[in-house]
Amino acid sequence: MATALITGANRGLGLAFTGQLAKAGWRVHACCRMPEKARNLKEIGGDVVRHRLDVTDGLQLAGLGRELADEPVDLLINNAGIFGPRAGFGQIAYDDWLQVFNVNTLAPMRVAETFAPHLERAPHAKLINISSRLGSIADTTTSGAHIYRSSKAALNMVTRCLSIDLQPRGVIVAALHPGWVNTNMGGRTAPLSPEDSAARVLAVIDRLTSEDSGGFYDNAGDVIPW
Ligand SMILES: NC(=O)c1ccc[n+]([C@@H]2O[C@H](COP(=O)([O-])OP(=O)(O)OC[C@H]3O[C@@H](n4cnc5c(N)ncnc54)[C@H](OP(=O)(O)O)[C@@H]3O)[C@@H](O)[C@H]2O)c1
Repeated sequence: MATALITGANRGLGLAFTGQLAKAGWRVHACCRMPEKARNLKEIGGDVVRHRLDVTDGLQLAGLGRELADEPVDLLINNAGIFGPRAGFGQIAYDDWLQVFNVNTLAPMRVAETFAPHLERAPHAKLINISSRLGSIADTTTSGAHIYRSSKAALNMVTRCLSIDLQPRGVIVAALHPGWVNTNMGGRTAPLSPEDSAARVLAVIDRLTSEDSGGFYDNAGDVIPW
C-alpha cells in the first residue's frame, strides 16, 4: 500500500487530496493544526491517520518525523498555505510578509528536510510543493499581492534546489499550480472545485517522471514559465 503525507489536510485542496487518495486505497497521514476540530477530515473513510501539525512549528514537525520514522512516504504534498494581505505598494505589512514566507516558503523546506529519509525509503517517491501561477515572474504583468507572489516565487526556487538535493535519493520534486480553486483562499467565484482541481493535480503527479523533476507545472501537466 502506498503512503502519502499531506499538510493543511483539514479543508480546501488538502482535504480533497486526502479524500481522493484514501478512496484510491492509499494510507494518508493527514496533517492539520487542529485535528480535533477537523470535522470534514474525520468523515473521510479509509486509512487516514490524522496528525497535529502547524507547519511553522519545528518541534511538532520533528516529533512527527520521529513518530513516522519507520514509514516510507511515497508522496509528500506541501499543501498548507496562506495568502496574507493583498495590499500592494505603499501599504505593505512587513510582519505579515514574514509570516507568509514562514508558512509558504520556509515550512515546505523544513517539511522536506524532515521527511527526506521517509521519502528515500520509498521507491520512486515524489515531493510536491503546491505553488501558484501567481509566483511566476515571467507571467507577471500587473502588480499587487507582492507578499503571496514573492512567497510562491521563492517556493519555486526551493523546489528547484530540492530536486537537485534529493535527486541522488531518487525523489522526484515538482512545483504544481492547482488552478484557481473555490476554497477559502480562492473564493467563491473560482471556476474549479477542490475535487476537480485535486483530481487533475493527482493525475499530473501520477505521470511525473524523474525527467520532470525540478519543474513547475499547471494542473494539466504543462510547464509554467518561471
Ligand atoms: N485556491 C486557489 O485558487 C489556489 C491557487 C493557487 C495555489 N493555491 C495553493 O493551494 C494550497 C491550498 O490552498 P487552498 O486553496 O486549499 O486554501 P485554504 O482553503 O485556505 O486552505 C489552506 C490550508 O492551509 C492550512 N494552513 C495554513 N497555515 C498553516 C500552518 N501554519 N500550519 C498548517 N496548516 C496551515 C489551513 O489550515 P487551518 O484551517 O488551520 O487554517 C488549511 O488547511 C496553498 O498552498 C495555496 O497557496 C491555491
